[in-house]
Amino acid sequence: MGRTGWKVSEIGFGAWAIGGSWGSVSDADSLAALNRAIDCGVNFIDTADVYGMGRSERLIARLKKDRKEEIVVATKAGRRLPAQTAEGYSRANLTAFIEDSLRNLAVDCLDLVQLHCPPTDVYYRPEVFGILDDLTAAGKIRYYGVSVERVEEALKAIEYPNVQSVQIIFNCFRLRPSELFFQEAAKRKVGILARVPLASGLLSGKLTRESKFDQDDHRNFNRHGEAFDVGETFSGVDYETALIAVEEIRALVPKDMTMAQFALRWILMFPEVTCAIPGAKRPRQAEENCAASDLPAVDMDAVARIYREKIRPLVHQRW
Ligand SMILES: NC(=O)c1ccc[n+]([C@@H]2O[C@H](COP(=O)([O-])OP(=O)(O)OC[C@H]3O[C@@H](n4cnc5c(N)ncnc54)[C@H](OP(=O)(O)O)[C@@H]3O)[C@@H](O)[C@H]2O)c1
Repeated sequence: MGRTGWKVSEIGFGAWAIGGSWGSVSDADSLAALNRAIDCGVNFIDTADVYGMGRSERLIARLKKDRKEEIVVATKAGRRLPAQTAEGYSRANLTAFIEDSLRNLAVDCLDLVQLHCPPTDVYYRPEVFGILDDLTAAGKIRYYGVSVERVEEALKAIEYPNVQSVQIIFNCFRLRPSELFFQEAAKRKVGILARVPLASGLLSGKLTRESKFDQDDHRNFNRHGEAFDVGETFSGVDYETALIAVEEIRALVPKDMTMAQFALRWILMFPEVTCAIPGAKRPRQAEENCAASDLPAVDMDAVARIYREKIRPLVHQRW
């Protein structure tokens, strides 16, 4: 991954759903999913302090206690602020968030801390990156990176020489990062973490017009961006249009692959991507996602055409 010296699996584990905001998920299922992912060769987990207010991080600490494998854990800081302001990304607040993550993850030093989709202004405050440098020097964090909403934020973030990774939405419904950002990140040897790789489950091909989501599932409560950036839910594509595009993608999926695997394999076709981090709530999902690594190449041109015709006008210039 970038300049870190870590060799991370190209499929990681996205640990948002096992924390909260995705309907009810039992800790037993979550731990089983995490363990299965490790069994299948995953060695990179993405979480955040805010996922279930420490629940996701604490589950990962339990996993790490039971496993001997080396597992890189990336967490995030910033979203516990009561309001998202650039001023909130202060030394006192960042230090307190990091201390909490250290406790939740039961470690002395965090592997990777990502600023968690901060306001755009934060990228224009070198002092914030200076605070992260100080926390690195103090041995609280090994490396830091950013999780961004927009391509322009990603381009700005990688101007800071110690940014090791950029996490960004990248999937069959979100192609813009591959146009310019991927090349720029590769030039600077910055790791790229592709998040929301299944467009919140849409690209597994299992969702329909009739699908129902729990009250506390963001696919219910954030469909129109009521709680946070709408791009995080179904990749920001309106549900009806997405279902039509999903049917076109389904026609491209070879017989020996599931659609989720197709969507993940598609991401891994981009050599600049370090790791795709699909969320998984159950062992079966973790196993299926992990297997995408070993599958043959998929039809890139056809996905690009579907994107151009159906999805591009809805998302391309927004993020
Ligand atoms: N701001 C940020 O920094 C930010 C924002 C979003 C995500 N992330 C990170 O990125 C990770 C991935 O994104 P995401 O979890 O939002 O979305 P995602 O990976 O696109 O979708 C995950 C969901 O799809 C379903 N699923 C997973 N594997 C499946 C399979 N093989 N077959 C069928 N359904 C499957 C599961 O939900 P159901 O079973 O309920 O359908 C799962 O929770 C997160 O976990 C988090 O670590 C970060």
